[in-house]
Amino acid sequence: MTTSPGITLKGQHRIGGRVLFDADLLIPGGQWTCLLGRSGVGKSTILRLILGLETGGLFSGSFAATDGMPLAGRISYMAQSDLLLPWLSVLDNVCIGARLRGESPHFGRARDLLNRVGLSDHTDQKPATLSGGMRQRAALARTLFEDRPILFLDEPFSALDAGTRADMQELASDVLQDRTVLLVTHDPAEAARLAHQIIVMSAQATQNWPVPETVALREINAPETLACQAKLLAYLRGIAA
Ligand SMILES: Nc1ncnc2c1ncn2[C@@H]1O[C@H](COP(=O)(O)OP(=O)(O)OP(=O)(O)O)[C@@H](O)[C@H]1O
Ligand SMILES: [Mg+2]
Repeated sequence: MTTSPGITLKGQHRIGGRVLFDADLLIPGGQWTCLLGRSGVGKSTILRLILGLETGGLFSGSFAATDGMPLAGRISYMAQSDLLLPWLSVLDNVCIGARLRGESPHFGRARDLLNRVGLSDHTDQKPATLSGGMRQRAALARTLFEDRPILFLDEPFSALDAGTRADMQELASDVLQDRTVLLVTHDPAEAARLAHQIIVMSAQATQNWPVPETVALREINAPETLACQAKLLAYLRGIAA
């Protein structure tokens, strides 16, 4: 039985008096939910709302964990920008959460994660000396290091080359088994491969999109993955923001 709770959210979000989106979401516990939708529709805003961060707007509605317990402290967040601290090494950036909580970090685990994201030769470097894709992998390692039941990943693989992206999808899928993952992506192939549930967001509604019946993580070239990807892409091209 899973111990990772799901999340429900229902309500309307306004910015400057204008309705940005009307959403009704069920993010099941212990599964991967992929959230897609046009740029600017409010995907990152949904994550920030649930995290209690500034959104620049007003939400009227409610959200909660399905187990009735507070969400605070149970979500590990990888923001769309990497938010690496420039004065810390890659290793210290990965361990920053533990440090901020006054805990002594498990450096062995941090090094293992950095090895798995391909940064074992760069642990002592500062973020400014890394490429965009390397920075994104450092941020991914930091997020995975937090070891929380719920993960919010906002376009976590967007800066990676195709091969590394596939590798990192497989790593995240392995490390995050049985966790509740809400992953924002613009890539229909990524959603078709990773998702237990796909949600397509527009200003008017949040809509569940059919996923293949096979178990995630799916093969990139499996017929059901390719079919889901193609239909989803066609749909996304047709919807308004
Ligand atoms: N702090 C803020 N103050 C005012 N407006 C904001 C703020 N944050 C976001 N917005 C606005 O809210 C809207 C949704 O932004 P959001 O970042 O959620 O979009 P998104 O769906 O994640 O887009 P993308 O796919 O480009 O990342 C945009 O119009 C944006 O300008
Ligand atoms: Mg965004």
